[in-house]
Amino acid sequence: MIDRADAERLDAADALRAWRDEFVIPDPDLIYLDGNSLGMTPRRTVAALRDAVERQWAGDLITSWWEHGWLDMPLDVGARLAPLLGAAPGAVAVHDSTTVGIFQLVNVALDLGTAARGGPVIAIDRSDFPTDRYVAEGVARLRGGEVRAGLDDLDGVDVVVRSMVDYRTAEIADVAAETARARAAGAETVWDLSHAVGVLDLDLPALGADLAVGCTYKFLNGGPGSPAFTYVAEHLHDRITQPIWGWFGQADQFAMDRPFDPRPGIGRLLNGTPGILGLVGAREGIAVTAEAGIAAIAAKARELTELGITIADQLGLETISPRAAERRGGHVAIRHADASRLHGELLARKVVVDKRDPDILRLGMSPLTTRFTDVFDALTTLAELTQQPSGER
Ligand SMILES: Cc1ncc(COP(=O)(O)O)c(C=O)c1O
Repeated sequence: MIDRADAERLDAADALRAWRDEFVIPDPDLIYLDGNSLGMTPRRTVAALRDAVERQWAGDLITSWWEHGWLDMPLDVGARLAPLLGAAPGAVAVHDSTTVGIFQLVNVALDLGTAARGGPVIAIDRSDFPTDRYVAEGVARLRGGEVRAGLDDLDGVDVVVRSMVDYRTAEIADVAAETARARAAGAETVWDLSHAVGVLDLDLPALGADLAVGCTYKFLNGGPGSPAFTYVAEHLHDRITQPIWGWFGQADQFAMDRPFDPRPGIGRLLNGTPGILGLVGAREGIAVTAEAGIAAIAAKARELTELGITIADQLGLETISPRAAERRGGHVAIRHADASRLHGELLARKVVVDKRDPDILRLGMSPLTTRFTDVFDALTTLAELTQQPSGER
């Protein structure tokens, strides 16, 4: 039986425990298990944003585009993020939303395809994240194609859109095997790494993944709506075209009278003026993760989620996350018919988790901010709430 003293011992032995001090802790009693939705605020981000607003924007105004490197930030921040994907610095850009990135890369993948079979077929799992499904449908509609719901049969499929970590269960897809299976069927795969980046130790080239997108506001702690990343394997750069042509993707941006001529490299995925404040948040969050070390972070995520599953078992809570650590991302999903009520009551006790209707509670475990005792306390509180008769609530 695991008790609280065990969790305290794990915290005391945790090599990453000092990193929590790098974050703003708004209330010492708060148990925040929602960093898989919105990561906590790094202290350095507060200072960096203040500097970007006060010194750069307010002080240096328009010259900041050059003086403070604003023009290059999408690629600069991409280069800083790249090692977390195992990628070369020039293979990643940080810009726009994940939704926009999926739209761009699905089109990139379709244009890379050699098959001329008529309307394109885009395959996606029925239970994948809504924005991924919507984009697939939207692109199919635009290009006179169709969406195939389900990934079992890839015959005739041109592009697969797929999350690496299931946003509900945290199950990790076998990226290498699934990319190869799709490729053997003649399809490229666009991987959504939103729930993987910053919590799993990734090596996209080794996995054979050529196209990927993901959020920076979850485990990378980039801040609300911080821009997403797009990754394209370098060997494809000169062959890709993308559908949103804008001046930031133009080879000579300030040669105003030229027709569109895409920049070399990943920069051709850029389109309009980047949101600098969001990029500052992404840059700082990425820096914290990179400094702490993704291998140590991934290892702690496995320990935290392992502890969570063990305690949930002990308390009779139903978990739907994989039991094998190597198949599990950074959260633990608990299924309960009363999830909505429990979510609200946990919140009232300063335990923040998130809920995916109809019956799932997700406990996000962000290794830089989550303590083993947080996992113990949250699950204990949850189990108590499930036992309470309605009159005592
Ligand atoms: C798997 C996945 N993809 C995409 C998104 C969101 O995309 P966007 O940043 O465009 O809203 C989320 C948000 O939670 C997500 O979980």
